[in-house]
Amino acid sequence: MTILAHEQSGTGVPLVFIHAFPLDRSMWNVQSSALRKNFKVILIDLPGFGATPLENETSSMESMARSVLETLDALKISDKCIFTGLSMGGYVLFKILKLAPERIRGLVFVSTRAAADSAEGRAKRFKTIEAVETKGVEVLIEAMRPNLLGKTARETQKDLVSLVDDLIRRQQPKSVCAALRAMAERSDSTDLLATINVPALFISGTEDVIIPTAEMEKMAATTPKGSFEKLEGGHLINLEKPALFNDRFSTFLKRRLL
Ligand code: MLT
Repeated sequence: MTILAHEQSGTGVPLVFIHAFPLDRSMWNVQSSALRKNFKVILIDLPGFGATPLENETSSMESMARSVLETLDALKISDKCIFTGLSMGGYVLFKILKLAPERIRGLVFVSTRAAADSAEGRAKRFKTIEAVETKGVEVLIEAMRPNLLGKTARETQKDLVSLVDDLIRRQQPKSVCAALRAMAERSDSTDLLATINVPALFISGTEDVIIPTAEMEKMAATTPKGSFEKLEGGHLINLEKPALFNDRFSTFLKRRLL
């Protein structure tokens, strides 16, 4: 049984947060501080990221989802959870939805997509793997910064730019490459949207260059109990606009899930 590195705080309905690529659970610290007064907040490091070692270089979104579920078992979380995933974290959420829908009380998809990679997207990932294998994670910093942070944040939030750069720098090349492979090989989850029978919130940043807002709006419209929030900002919207993000997140919990 795999137990992923995690941080658990607070009591109440469990909120599980799954991070983006190539980051770790600390990207949710601001949400954890705000929410742990009223909820049990669980932040998880996916295999190879943060404090979780990479045990298997041929990981997949599904094996990551299984490890998340096993970690919740180890923590004896038997209540249904409200799961939040940003980007790669969202790809993992779709697999949790497939494997264990009975453990889900609600879903928050942030800056993510149900679709698999296009052939072009996949080819780009394999090029990135080559670059990381030869030059290390440093190459990811310049390459990912314009994707992860919106134009406005890059120009006006220099501390956030440094924080995200440092987060990327902390990750291991072999873990980054394993996750890139796993994302490239992930299957399409679009059909799952119509099967979601719990409230689901979709949050998108208007300056996100990886996942267009219109794509997320369509996902929300396809989901029976889906709702959609568009916030001014980029891909890592929870970090760029924490107060606004937390407000919309909490409003969704209060109105739809509690
Ligand atoms: C992420 O933010 O998790 C990644 O950008 C996702 C991706 O590359 O598809």
